[in-house]
Amino acid sequence: MTAINRRRALSGSAAVAVGVPLLAACGDDSDTSATDPATSSGSDTPDASSSPSEEGGAAAGGAVLASAADVPVNGCLVVPDAKVVITQPTEGDFKAFTAVCTHQGCLVETSSDGEIPCPCHASRFSLEDGSPLGGPATAALAAVEITVDGDSITRA
Ligand code: FES
Repeated sequence: MTAINRRRALSGSAAVAVGVPLLAACGDDSDTSATDPATSSGSDTPDASSSPSEEGGAAAGGAVLASAADVPVNGCLVVPDAKVVITQPTEGDFKAFTAVCTHQGCLVETSSDGEIPCPCHASRFSLEDGSPLGGPATAALAAVEITVDGDSITRA
């Protein structure tokens, strides 16, 4: 029994080992391989990671996401390609979260109404911490690290 389990475990490892280089090769076109944490941040929610709209990753670490002037005060700006929503709860205070709704994976919307809305089933999230304020979503939007340099907002 032990030998069978060990063989199965080894064959499972081989399958993973084959799969990993293929995944890495997909992202090696640019310099994103050195900044692998940007794609997962270590705090993705299970719902977000299993969403149907998971591909992308165009804006890896260091990539410019938006101009600070485009983010409304007391509102948010969605960067669809990067699947990131940048908020400005108070003037000059910027935060960012995954734009993938924790309910069923829709992208949230740009807004200037003091919250991050999801158009699919009307969940709403906090500009401050991405926590759910209402609607069917019960998990917060995962934080995304950003750097604000003058008018330029980049992924950290
Ligand atoms: S997917 Fe956002 S509220 Fe349902």
